[in-house]
Amino acid sequence: RLGGQADVWARRVVEELEGTAERQQATPSNQRDLFVQSKDPLQAERGEKELAPATLDCATPPITSASPEFSYSPASFRLLTPIADKHLLSSPQFTPNAYLSKCTSTGGFVCFWVNPETFNFHVLRQIRLASPQDDVDAQDGVAPLDEAAKGKGYGCNASGKGKKALIEFSSVNIAKPFHAGHLRSTIIGAFLANLYEANGWEVIRVNYLGDWGKQFGLLALGFRKFGSEEELEADAIKHLYDVYVKINAEAEADPAIHDEARAFFKLMEDGDAEALGLWKRFRDFSIIKLEKMYARLNIHFDVYAGESLVSPEAMKRQVDLLEEKKLLCTDRGAVLANLEEYKLGKVVVRKADGTSIYITRDLGEALERYEKYKFDKMVYVIAAQQNFHCQQFFKMLELMGYEWADKLEHVNFGMVLGMSTRKGTVKFLDDILQEAKLSMHEQMSKNEDKYKQIEDPEHVSDIIGQTAVKIQDMSAKRINDYEFNISRMTSFEGDTGPYIQYSHVRLCSVQRKNPNILLPEDLTQVKTSLLSEPKAREIIYILSTYPQVIRDAFVDYQPSTIVTFCFKLCHLVSQAWETLKVQGQEEELAVARLYLFVCSRDVLSSAMRLLSLTPLERM
Ligand code: ARG
Repeated sequence: RLGGQADVWARRVVEELEGTAERQQATPSNQRDLFVQSKDPLQAERGEKELAPATLDCATPPITSASPEFSYSPASFRLLTPIADKHLLSSPQFTPNAYLSKCTSTGGFVCFWVNPETFNFHVLRQIRLASPQDDVDAQDGVAPLDEAAKGKGYGCNASGKGKKALIEFSSVNIAKPFHAGHLRSTIIGAFLANLYEANGWEVIRVNYLGDWGKQFGLLALGFRKFGSEEELEADAIKHLYDVYVKINAEAEADPAIHDEARAFFKLMEDGDAEALGLWKRFRDFSIIKLEKMYARLNIHFDVYAGESLVSPEAMKRQVDLLEEKKLLCTDRGAVLANLEEYKLGKVVVRKADGTSIYITRDLGEALERYEKYKFDKMVYVIAAQQNFHCQQFFKMLELMGYEWADKLEHVNFGMVLGMSTRKGTVKFLDDILQEAKLSMHEQMSKNEDKYKQIEDPEHVSDIIGQTAVKIQDMSAKRINDYEFNISRMTSFEGDTGPYIQYSHVRLCSVQRKNPNILLPEDLTQVKTSLLSEPKAREIIYILSTYPQVIRDAFVDYQPSTIVTFCFKLCHLVSQAWETLKVQGQEEELAVARLYLFVCSRDVLSSAMRLLSLTPLERM
């Protein structure tokens, strides 16, 4: 159980075994020298690179973080055991070395035991070498074990090098309520985009706004009646929504308004300059407001796409191709794609009045995106309610024969139940964030002394509040529904966002509280062998798993994999404060422990940033 460090040790074992096999053939059996003493790795680290790349035949792609050229998989590791069984177990001559302290057999498997001192040294060192905060290379001139992680943070890997992913998420609607689906898409999508980057991909973050359709006709009419330029500029999202609610109420009583709205939308579709001018102002001001909101959440987009921007030509090309593939039929003037053969029903792709619809825009947009970006992967982060839509949409692309159709993926998620604040049901992201912030602020001000020490309580309560919202969202498997519960998510008790922030702050405080204990410039001087208590070893072990945790999360796109890692680490660290004291210890030991906590802080903070959180240093 070696976590992300497995490869370093696997390589060790493989080298030994390969050497063994060769020697087996070359040497008379009575002279078998199965394991040679390896060079001291600590020494080798400082001098020339001692770990020669070994080649291991295995079909699986490399999963290592530490050595991209080395192929290793848990499966092949086990395949080695027959060699080991035959040659090694019969030999009494295993010589412990710096990496492997002993070798035993249990239930048909051979266990190689890690030398904990070397393990401590490597894990902590790799964390520091990859740390973006410090330019540790400059300090001791040693190349990090993991080139890929360098500068990007420990745990990152280069498996996606040279590949490009488009991640579409958030995709809110202008002038319509912001619902739970948007909240989740925003949170999960931001995480996923970071996760792709951590796995070495180039990422383009796309927000595909719901900025087109008949509701814009209504909105334009409403704006003439109830609109205010000032309010539009101040908060377009809220103002347009208010206008929309008002005009909708009027339209209920007077259906003629709907006809007018349709006529206005037709003008937009036909490219009428005045109609489009008004619509563009709605869109632009909405984006300004949205960007502020995303920035508050530590999220950004590279592209603001939108249903409005899909070109009519692209849509036409798609519908023509469907026709060519004989997939279309008509019904009362509307054009439909027949997917009944695939149990996906019939889908309208063009309405009787000639206006486009949602799925046709998606078809056109996908084509344009492929032509523009030539992506290797395109992910749609959309609620599970749209599973059927995505199935139809993807099926159509496949039937149209696009070779890139299989690069598209729908990442879905469940619903949020009972999403309401004290003021009523939620309409805006702002409301949710405000509610979470107020709740945190209330809790913080209960402790007057502590509260006074916080430099900017507004900012801090905002950050903890949104951490609470995000962690609640990402704690369970994506597909699960969950209950929106402000008081539970903002509690410091239990596995919550505030608890993670608190743990990070506490880790940051170790150095502050012990200003006289300093890490040496040359970190190889830290006596990591002193970190021998079970608690210390548990922490180092979990830190070592982080690179693998990032790969695991990438397999099924579950943010909960990272969240669970954070909680495990926080629990271990909080159990360690008593046993692994820094204060009042003999210097070498104090330094070693401080080093352990600094590394824990680094890893927790990068896991938090992967989840789009802003790690706080004080609270
Ligand atoms: N704006 C849509 C909605 O709120 C979600 C868009 C999802 N993305 C897509 N390419 N269809 O329902």
